[in-house]
Amino acid sequence: MIDLSPKMTEALNQQISYEGYASSFYLALAYWCDIQALQGCKKFFLRQSDEERMHMLKLYEYMSEAGVQPMTPALPQPPIKYKSIQEAFHKVFEQERSVTAAIHNLLKLSYEENDFNTQNFLQWYVDEQREEEAVIRTILDRIKVIGEGGQSLYYIDKEVDKINIQVVAAEKTVGGV
Ligand code: FEO
Repeated sequence: MIDLSPKMTEALNQQISYEGYASSFYLALAYWCDIQALQGCKKFFLRQSDEERMHMLKLYEYMSEAGVQPMTPALPQPPIKYKSIQEAFHKVFEQERSVTAAIHNLLKLSYEENDFNTQNFLQWYVDEQREEEAVIRTILDRIKVIGEGGQSLYYIDKEVDKINIQVVAAEKTVGGV
């Protein structure tokens, strides 16, 4: 049986709002990319937005299993404009780092509270964040190599599209589909 303390309940609700914000952040970014004609990046961020929604829903299900009604938070407005795709990916990295820090704090709390079920549940998020950060780091490295010349946007978009295909293929392999 899952027994969530009031403190843990509040912290999980807070995480719901972070994951919800992340989903909306990526959705807004996907349509900024659309306007810039960066279709590879748009696809990447739309998939990412769906992933973040799934992260949020997993928290809903976990809390519901514990007999607690999750909060559905009002979310802050995400950015809708960027100076460049380079800046956008740097912001994405900051965004993911902040979610990683929040997950680590949640995990710390679960240890303090001897909440073994939540510790176990959160391990999936620790792995997921590590993978997401690795993908964004790879993209940032490629952006650095491509540089900022005349056709850089074209090549960045192609690279992001390629990475998108690899991530989807890796998910299918892990999921056994
Ligand atoms: Fe679910 Fe990437 O934060």
